[in-house]
Amino acid sequence: MKRFILGISGASGQAIAIKLLRELLGRNCETHLVISSQSLPILEQETGIRCGNKAQREKQLRGGVRGGKLVYYDETGMWAPIASGSFRTDAMFIVPCSMKTLSAVANGYASNLLERAADVKIKEGGKLILCPREMPFSAIHLENMLKLARLGVAIAPPVAAFYHKPKTLEAMVEFFAGKLLDQAGIENDIFRRWDGRGTGRRPRSGGE
Ligand SMILES: Cc1cc2nc3c(=O)[nH]c(=O)nc-3n(C[C@H](O)[C@H](O)[C@H](O)COP(=O)(O)O)c2cc1C
Repeated sequence: MKRFILGISGASGQAIAIKLLRELLGRNCETHLVISSQSLPILEQETGIRCGNKAQREKQLRGGVRGGKLVYYDETGMWAPIASGSFRTDAMFIVPCSMKTLSAVANGYASNLLERAADVKIKEGGKLILCPREMPFSAIHLENMLKLARLGVAIAPPVAAFYHKPKTLEAMVEFFAGKLLDQAGIENDIFRRWDGRGTGRRPRSGGE
């Protein structure tokens, strides 16, 4: 079973994180999910998912997707295995990545579990994939991204493409999630790939 860390921070674009989480679980991956306290109300506002309710949390996060293993942490759980480099994972995603969390990661300021897990990924030379969301980016944001890119961190913001002719928001979300899976080397066909003619095969969901 492959093992991933998914960090969700308090930026807009929470649906991308949920789509990615469900794709990982659907591929039978062990997924260590760490959610910043600031992201909780945004997750609820944008997707309707409430993580405050422990009994309902996993059901809501899975949205009917079976398989895999979901391990949930809040950002205060510094005793979690993912806070240590001795705990091996295949890759870590931060989706969406706020400019605050981006800044913390770029500067080694590991003040919560999400930031610490990313700090660990970098020090261990592992795969870290960030999906930063802000509009527009300031020079500070861009400098932080450049610093991380030079360290080998994948900077994969939710920048829309149109060659797959998306007709729904869901198709856009699938495109972003698929591109993030690509970054981690995870096979997927959840979005229409460019085939040189623009007639590529439909994604699995058909959501275009
Ligand atoms: C509704 C809402 C949307 C937000 N969207 C963004 C965003 O897209 N990008 C961003 O950098 N910050 C955004 N913020 C601000 C962050 O939530 C704030 O900077 C917070 O401190 C981030 O903390 P975290 O990174 O620990 O989750 C948003 C805040 C709210 C309330």
